[in-house]
Amino acid sequence: MTHVALVGTGVVGASWSLVFARAGLDVMTYDPNGNAAGRVVDFVRAALADLAAQGIPAREPADAVLARVKVAGSLEAALDGAQYVQESVPERVEIKRALYPLLDSAPPSTVLASSTSGLPASAFTEGLTHRARCLVVHPINPPHLIPLVEIVPAPWTATDVVERTTALMRQVGQSPIRLRREINGFVVNRLQSALLAEAFRLVEDDIVQAEEVDRAMSDGLGLRWFFMGPFETIDLNASNGIAEYCRNLGPMYHGLAREQADPREWTEALVARIERDLRTQVPASALPERRSWRDRVLAYLGTVKQRVENGGS
Ligand SMILES: NC(=O)c1ccc[n+]([C@@H]2O[C@H](COP(=O)([O-])OP(=O)(O)OC[C@H]3O[C@@H](n4cnc5c(N)ncnc54)[C@H](O)[C@@H]3O)[C@@H](O)[C@H]2O)c1
Repeated sequence: MTHVALVGTGVVGASWSLVFARAGLDVMTYDPNGNAAGRVVDFVRAALADLAAQGIPAREPADAVLARVKVAGSLEAALDGAQYVQESVPERVEIKRALYPLLDSAPPSTVLASSTSGLPASAFTEGLTHRARCLVVHPINPPHLIPLVEIVPAPWTATDVVERTTALMRQVGQSPIRLRREINGFVVNRLQSALLAEAFRLVEDDIVQAEEVDRAMSDGLGLRWFFMGPFETIDLNASNGIAEYCRNLGPMYHGLAREQADPREWTEALVARIERDLRTQVPASALPERRSWRDRVLAYLGTVKQRVENGGS
């Protein structure tokens, strides 16, 4: 594939434009909001400058990448010639339902992929004439710094659409996982949900403070999870691998899971308490700078991870 259209260029759409453009694809963007449409090129320019400032080597000059990102004046113009569409409009099913019949006017071979964080594609593509080319490609924000994408077919998505989309994601440097079928929250948010539920519970029950939960991850579990998942982690944590680990610790984890089985609401009082803790570390006015710092760290760690994956240790 060589031409992609990005429909909706807010937070996620803007980052997608860099993913595709730096991989050499022509990117046509469309957003009805003039500000968002205008900002996408600025975003790509700033993000490229940021990467360069950190000494992260670029494969080509920033201008060459920028030249591939174009802003279309209408949806029709954006779709013209696109072989793949990445939709990133707001997470409201009625907005997606209104948009998809318009996207369905693209030639049937054009893939229509949604960035949705939690809506199954079946919730907004059911009545389309060419629904077999629709699926979810869920990024983790910002996709130009975090490679994982979740590819989630609807019950009617054609297998070759899943195949072509997986190949495209690999081509542009993303790391796809393919869900066999739709499930609420997909994989990443289901994992995150289990972790957040426990994090809130530990603070609510006065076991530790929010900052200590964060450090349990950033100075503890997160260091391994940066480059290996929970299964490989436990496989390496017993001399004879995962089966031994599960024999030894399975009953303990089963007991813990039973204690964790009752879901709790995140009450306003609890959220306010955690927010107070967080604001003592980072005041509200410093949040934008903290986000930029996060993105700089992500970019740097991405280079370290690449070295590790290329055989460094
Ligand atoms: N922000 C995240 O962390 C994140 C992560 C993964 C996935 N997502 C998903 O990506 C999608 C977009 O999220 P976002 O955070 O970028 O939202 P956003 O509000 O930042 O951007 C949405 C953009 O869509 C535009 N838009 C509205 N209606 C449109 C239409 N009919 N056609 C074209 N553009 C239209 C808006 O003008 C806006 O610029 C959502 O489905 C969201 O769930 C978001």
